[in-house]
Amino acid sequence: MLTRARIAVLVSGGGTNLEALLRSQEQGSLSHGEIVLVCSSRPGVYALTRAANHGVPGAVVSRAGRSQEDFEAELQEQLLRYQVDLIVLAGFLSILSADFVRRWPDRIVNIHPSLIPSFCGKGYYGLRVHEAALERGVKVTGATVHLVNEIPDGGRILLQKAVEILPEDTPEILQRRVMEQAEWILLPQAVEMLCKQISEEGASRS
Ligand code: GRF
Repeated sequence: MLTRARIAVLVSGGGTNLEALLRSQEQGSLSHGEIVLVCSSRPGVYALTRAANHGVPGAVVSRAGRSQEDFEAELQEQLLRYQVDLIVLAGFLSILSADFVRRWPDRIVNIHPSLIPSFCGKGYYGLRVHEAALERGVKVTGATVHLVNEIPDGGRILLQKAVEILPEDTPEILQRRVMEQAEWILLPQAVEMLCKQISEEGASRS
């Protein structure tokens, strides 16, 4: 029997990428994975409402006002409690330490709204990524799904998709186009790909 990989989606905001994953699960295209937990680094975010709407458990592990160590210890505890196999960072704005990342080799995946190695790294998050692409005048941008390892931005790239930049674009318009044409398509594809690998590895061990 197929054992589906258990997925935790880590969020900090609106959660449109989480929504894309939940829909792909409901439509049957995330057939090797199951979202078992949505974990937010901030209380009250809309992503938690989306999780509840789809009947998925939500948890808040606050980053604010505590040490990195305490934050990560609680996060790790939640992930182990839900027996998570794969961590998906979908708009998760808290930095994870090299120590934490080392405990999850090839099991953390992130989506970034540019074609890495362009417009990524420190300070490049949210609208800032799209502002920088427009300031530079690039004609094509896109999204990248990559594994996260302990070297910043050093994780293996899994999928990328290009998106055209149009002359009248504002950062907001571009952000929306990158989400619609790339992020919401790529992330479910990459997650299914990883879950398939994980469930096959599990099957070959048992
Ligand atoms: C997305 O643009 C994603 O690429 C980036 O953060 C944003 C999250 O948006 N890492 P949402 O919360 O999924 O709507």
